Amino acid sequence: MSALIEEQAAWTAGSGSPLRGSLRVPGDKSVSHRAVMLGALAEGVTRVTGFLEGEDTRATARVFERLGVRIETPSASERIVHGVGMHGLRGVAEALDCGNAGTGMRLLAGVLAGQDFDSVLIGDASLSKRPMRRVTEPLAAMGAQIDTEDGGLPPLRIRGGRSLQGIEYTLPVASAQVKSALLLAGLYAYGDTVVHEPHPTRDYTERMLAAFGWPIEFSPGYARLSGGHVLRATGIAVPADFSSAAFFLVAASVVPGSDLRLEAVGMNPRRTGLLAALRLMGADIVEENPRAEGGEPVADLRVRYAPLHGIDVPEALVPDMIDEFPALFIAAATAKGRTTIRGAAELRVKESDRIATMATGLRALGANIVETPDGAIIEGGALHGGEVDSHGDHRIAMSFAIAAQLASGEVRIGDVANVATSFPGFEALAAKAGMRVGPAE
Ligand code: S3P
Repeated sequence: MSALIEEQAAWTAGSGSPLRGSLRVPGDKSVSHRAVMLGALAEGVTRVTGFLEGEDTRATARVFERLGVRIETPSASERIVHGVGMHGLRGVAEALDCGNAGTGMRLLAGVLAGQDFDSVLIGDASLSKRPMRRVTEPLAAMGAQIDTEDGGLPPLRIRGGRSLQGIEYTLPVASAQVKSALLLAGLYAYGDTVVHEPHPTRDYTERMLAAFGWPIEFSPGYARLSGGHVLRATGIAVPADFSSAAFFLVAASVVPGSDLRLEAVGMNPRRTGLLAALRLMGADIVEENPRAEGGEPVADLRVRYAPLHGIDVPEALVPDMIDEFPALFIAAATAKGRTTIRGAAELRVKESDRIATMATGLRALGANIVETPDGAIIEGGALHGGEVDSHGDHRIAMSFAIAAQLASGEVRIGDVANVATSFPGFEALAAKAGMRVGPAE
């Protein structure tokens, strides 16, 4: 093991008990980011409940505080955002730190391109390696001036005082972050901003803009708005994050004897592709008490152990489960037969190269997996103990904690500190459900 990995937080995990009981995972990361952003730009006071107390979303809140927005925390998972209006942000000389959050940086690029002050966005080591041209190029076409490092990497140096024009843009890759950056810049632009998507992605920005009273037209794969209106403060109830629930959906599906209920999980159809994929694999997951909370569909999910078999993951599902592949890799590696994943090259530019990181880690546990440029071929089988490196990627760390429940020996998972970016308290909740995972000695 390298000295570097040894210095970083690590877990040991191993076979625990069947997952049982009822639990609620933390608030949705995508919705929490957007609630702070739109609340900050609104007229009036926005109360956000169910806010994700993760490092990513706190970093976004801190950026807006630095820009002059008062944000109160009356209790955990609650924020009161005192909106400053569309033109009330105040620039600061120092760089604004987005931490690990691609969503924070890309959406902020759209907001800040429309301000009359300059700003600089920086991030951690992982975010500093993630591609930003996908937002800076179309924003430049709108009139923004954003300088990057070589290769289109952060920091982003955003010039203020530019006059933005609306754009009609077809996204080359399905990305809610890029779509949202353009729509947010479009709030400040002359004329209409129209975004077309090759495959519909999560539409939280569109829904939330409508909830804040901004005129917007949208349907799956399409959004149109014009600049120059106002946002009016509103209450935002953040649903539990499907992507966090996903780890438990897989864990309870693969650990014999499990019967677990996940409460009030956000069921936006652009997020639930993993549910469809797991059901194709033979999973037993029932949606109970479907309802709407804060304008979003939610349901309780009851998941019981069921023997899974391999599948060809339908490519059409990929954008709807883009954050869930690490967990799906574990389901596939422990299922009967072969699973094939295609059309998922975006995984290579997430918090880590998720195809390579998962393949290396699974191989270390004895799995049979072949990487392809845009996916993987995984033969299900038995896993043994070993050592894996998360490469600072929260979802990889949590996925290997699930793998460990079925491994014949103990699994050491390195570089896990970033789990707090999206799922603070994961180990405690996982242990409560029956999993064996905790800090390494
Ligand atoms: C997100 C969009 C997705 C997703 C990320 C959150 C968002 O990224 O992977 O975790 O909140 O808009 P891409 O836009 O890069 O697909």
